[in-house]
Amino acid sequence: MGLISYDEVAKHNNSESCYVIVHGKVYDVTEFLPEHPGGSKIILKYAGKDATEEYDPIHPPGTLEENLPKDKCLGEVDPATMKAEAKKEESQEEKQIARNKDELPPLDLCLNLYDFEVVARKVLKGTAWAYYSSGADDEVTMRENNNAFGRIWFRPRILRDVSNINYSTSLLGCKSTLPIYITATALGKLGHPDGEKNLTIAAGREGIIQMIPTLASCSFEEIVDARVHDQQPQFFQLYVNSNRAITEKLIRRAEERGVKGLFVTVDAPQLGRREKDMRIKFEDVGSRVQNDGKDDVDRSQGAARAISSFIDPSLNWDDLNWLRSVTRMPIVLKGVQTWEDAVKAAELGLSGVVLSNHGGRQLDFARSGIEVLGEVVEALKQRGLFPNPMFQIFVDGGVRRASDVLKAVAMGATACGIGRPFLYAYSAYGPEGVQRAIQLLKAEMEMNMRLIGAPTLKDLEPNMVDVRALSTHVNVVPESNQAQIYERLSTAVGMPNEPANKL
Ligand SMILES: Cc1cc2nc3c(=O)[nH]c(=O)nc-3n(C[C@H](O)[C@H](O)[C@H](O)COP(=O)(O)O)c2cc1C
Repeated sequence: MGLISYDEVAKHNNSESCYVIVHGKVYDVTEFLPEHPGGSKIILKYAGKDATEEYDPIHPPGTLEENLPKDKCLGEVDPATMKAEAKKEESQEEKQIARNKDELPPLDLCLNLYDFEVVARKVLKGTAWAYYSSGADDEVTMRENNNAFGRIWFRPRILRDVSNINYSTSLLGCKSTLPIYITATALGKLGHPDGEKNLTIAAGREGIIQMIPTLASCSFEEIVDARVHDQQPQFFQLYVNSNRAITEKLIRRAEERGVKGLFVTVDAPQLGRREKDMRIKFEDVGSRVQNDGKDDVDRSQGAARAISSFIDPSLNWDDLNWLRSVTRMPIVLKGVQTWEDAVKAAELGLSGVVLSNHGGRQLDFARSGIEVLGEVVEALKQRGLFPNPMFQIFVDGGVRRASDVLKAVAMGATACGIGRPFLYAYSAYGPEGVQRAIQLLKAEMEMNMRLIGAPTLKDLEPNMVDVRALSTHVNVVPESNQAQIYERLSTAVGMPNEPANKL
């Protein structure tokens, strides 16, 4: 294969003949256009051009090789012919982000997890911010996740020896320095070129566990290879593919590479409507694409749609037997939202459940995981299924303070997952940002446990929390930052006379 000039590539800029450059290689994707899960429009936007920058966050390495016949890679572009105009001109947005990055506050000014959100908003592209920060529909559940913790109060005990505090624990048999893990969040490279590897490194250095997403931007192998030491435990989040052979391959590969737990996502048979994400994608795709007048893209799901069409909506309880037959890894259901389903999972002998509503990104008006925890523990207790070290209960959604985690542990959870704050932390500061976030949680944990009178996690008891207001859905604590990030159409398109970011 010889070198291909940029001028030659540029000629193939339409649906009749469509070439794109990715990482210096020229691909003929003409025949692939109708098959592209994200629609042909988005490819045609880069027809005859270098698509690497847009391609990378959404496609793990190897995607092109796996989906295109070998002969569609035509060769390498001649770097000498890449004209200045071919290199994408920096947009106003990119210039502003670069300036903001130069003026990033020193890391030690970030004093809690909310602070990373504020900084990340300044350094993330609009598309990345929309994908990371959005929730479903009116984002009521997304805000409720955090608000629910504000309705639980402590009943601290006094005169207990709290000179030594120990908040280490064990998740599915793996040691963790904190009752906290990094939950799975897709498309890590939207925020930082090293994507999920930032999380791997920080988790390894701080001794907590990372859950690797099926839809990571980095390849699974890259994330596993980024482990700080051989024994660093990792979990894997699974979206089950309609093509079970593909899923089986993923599971076997995860087990071979030493993954310690399989978290099967059960709350996303169809992706929720995240309107902030949809709006920005609508602008992005709609305004600039020339595709011969054909409009074949369902714009309704933004970045999410493009990557999730393979998820099998027919997945049901019967499939769990099959899942168990292909792995020895402990299986946990991620996205359980009622005691009935939690009891069923326990009775089936699964290893646990994550009480979660996907960070408020799926069913709006789903209850918070922490509220569901109360009824789940009660129902399991009644059936003699709690406590049970072989069936662990995890909670995620809106966890931002160690006090949130302590409330969950007192109520019976083993640990809490945290999603967005870690994304924001590395988008702004790389792995050191995530480490800082974890260290802040450790400091909060130590202080709060001392003040509650619980030197170890085992000393946290249900009677140390007052949960009477939890299910009232009446907020007494003013809404936190989460209330500030909802965007209505008017604010999203910059209409005047609307206060920005107000509900
Ligand atoms: C940007 C983003 C991407 C996510 N991607 C996935 C995913 O691919 N699979 C999954 O099971 N959950 C996914 N989640 C849900 C998280 O695992 C978790 O349930 C949620 O983020 C917890 O809420 P928090 O962000 O308020 O901490 C995602 C969440 C966010 C914010």
